[in-house]
Amino acid sequence: MRNPVPEKKSAARLIDWCIFCLQCLWYSGSNPRKLRLFFSVKPYTQLGYRRLANIYELAERLEKEGVKGDFVECGVWKGGAAAILAFQAARAKPPRKAWLIDSFAGMPEPTGQDGPMIGKMVNGRTEGRLHPVGINVASLEQVEKLLFGRFGFDRDKAVVVKGWFQEVLPGLSRRIGGIALLRIDADWYESTKVCLSYLYDSVVSAGYVIIDDYNLLPGCKNAVDEFMRERGLRVELTAIDREGVYFRKK
Ligand SMILES: C[S@@+](CC[C@H](N)C(=O)[O-])C[C@H]1O[C@@H](n2cnc3c(N)ncnc32)[C@H](O)[C@@H]1O
Repeated sequence: MRNPVPEKKSAARLIDWCIFCLQCLWYSGSNPRKLRLFFSVKPYTQLGYRRLANIYELAERLEKEGVKGDFVECGVWKGGAAAILAFQAARAKPPRKAWLIDSFAGMPEPTGQDGPMIGKMVNGRTEGRLHPVGINVASLEQVEKLLFGRFGFDRDKAVVVKGWFQEVLPGLSRRIGGIALLRIDADWYESTKVCLSYLYDSVVSAGYVIIDDYNLLPGCKNAVDEFMRERGLRVELTAIDREGVYFRKK
């Protein structure tokens, strides 16, 4: 959850773009296709270069190693990171599906587990109700325009699902088969926990799980740690940058 409420001020946005351009040129210079993709998704994502590259590269690794399964993103916002998942899913042989799930109404109420700073940010509305609080709002139409209009992805292969995770995942988890790459970018404790509860068991052996805000948001970290403890799982977390982590399922 980078800059959850206010859109970045124009000076901050400019600096963000400059850093992004430098990183793209520095790291992806030899891969113009990757570079073009990153530049086209940047206006539609809160992720910086490293986290975008992480999605792109883990997907490539899975393909190279022949790990079967679909790609899933929980927490799509304007669709920039989702476009990278859908791009890599479409290139796979045979093509994989990308399941892209969001309320498209923004964040629901957090809970006390998300800490006092988040509580303040939502003016004390911390009952965890599935009511939008006006943070990270992007519409389904916006995302469909990006994925199916601009990128031209096949609707059967990039499946966009609108709804609260708590309401759609119980049914959807039965429709999604094996998951090779699960990306959770859901910010709050409850949102993260529900994604793990319904989707972790579908992640195939050698599949990856990315937790976008593990080292930024205490609620997100608590949800992951608690889930691992409850299941008796021990995983080796790898840092993507200062905030995001990923691990490989044994
Ligand atoms: C930080 S944004 C995702 C950023 C995005 N992946 C990107 O590329 O910039 C978090 C998203 O999670 C969604 N979200 C959080 N909790 C949710 C829930 N319980 N059900 C559905 N969507 C949720 C919000 O609507 C929001 O779009």
